Amino acid sequence: MGSNKDIDLIEDGKRLDGRDFDELREISIDAGVLKRADGSAYLEWGKNKIMAAVYGPREMHPRHAQETTKAVVRARYNMAAFSVPDRKRPGPDRRSTEISKLVSEALEKVVFTENYPRSVIDVFIEVLQASAGTRCGGLTAASVALADAGIPMSDMVASCASGKIEGEVVLDLGKNEDNYGQADVPVGYIPRSDELCLLQMDGNLTQEEYEKAMEMSIDACKDIHEIQRGALRERYSTELQEEEITKASEGVE
Ligand code: CDP
Repeated sequence: MGSNKDIDLIEDGKRLDGRDFDELREISIDAGVLKRADGSAYLEWGKNKIMAAVYGPREMHPRHAQETTKAVVRARYNMAAFSVPDRKRPGPDRRSTEISKLVSEALEKVVFTENYPRSVIDVFIEVLQASAGTRCGGLTAASVALADAGIPMSDMVASCASGKIEGEVVLDLGKNEDNYGQADVPVGYIPRSDELCLLQMDGNLTQEEYEKAMEMSIDACKDIHEIQRGALRERYSTELQEEEITKASEGVE
């Protein structure tokens, strides 16, 4: 969040990329893209490209990290060295540790962890290309990957940010908006229970602006949830079709 206004972010009532204030960047999600993972999802959101892979539930190692009454959801957010314009130094840093923690906590709210005592559900989020909003993209993709792995959950988390640029509340900040804007507020939303499981705020908003931002984000999360559901529908209809084709080619009734 830069406070210096180096560039104009709004021209003739439109944002730099031509979007309206309440418009999301384009989002697409494919479920079940990795053969070796128990569940996976690949997401493109504007220029962001993110892969999520789920392994487990499986026995937690190290054993001292086991929880006797529930599974631990262990998310690891990682940015590829080539994902940003300046090479990202490989390995964990404060930012990725923070994002891993908040994604783990958000997902623990929906996974029925009590079904799997002493287990771990590993969620790997690999950012291949980053352009603002990667924690939201990562959380959104991870939810689809968990569902693809067949992990029992109350719902999928949908996530999206809104914020403020040039005094206007806008949805889903792009890279320049994130760099030169005044506020960025990512949220994770659980549609079925109408609850938030992630809320952060970088910058400042008045109460009125905050309420407007929340309304925009929650509406957008409902749309994102439909895209998540669509990805699963597509995955399983394709799998069923493939089974039919295999059966047909093998002459099985
Ligand atoms: O990605 P997100 O908006 O969730 O997190 P952020 O910390 O607000 O980062 C915003 C953006 O800054 C990222 O999406 C990247 O495009 C960029 N960034 C970067 O260029 N180099 C880094 N080491 C970290 C972030």
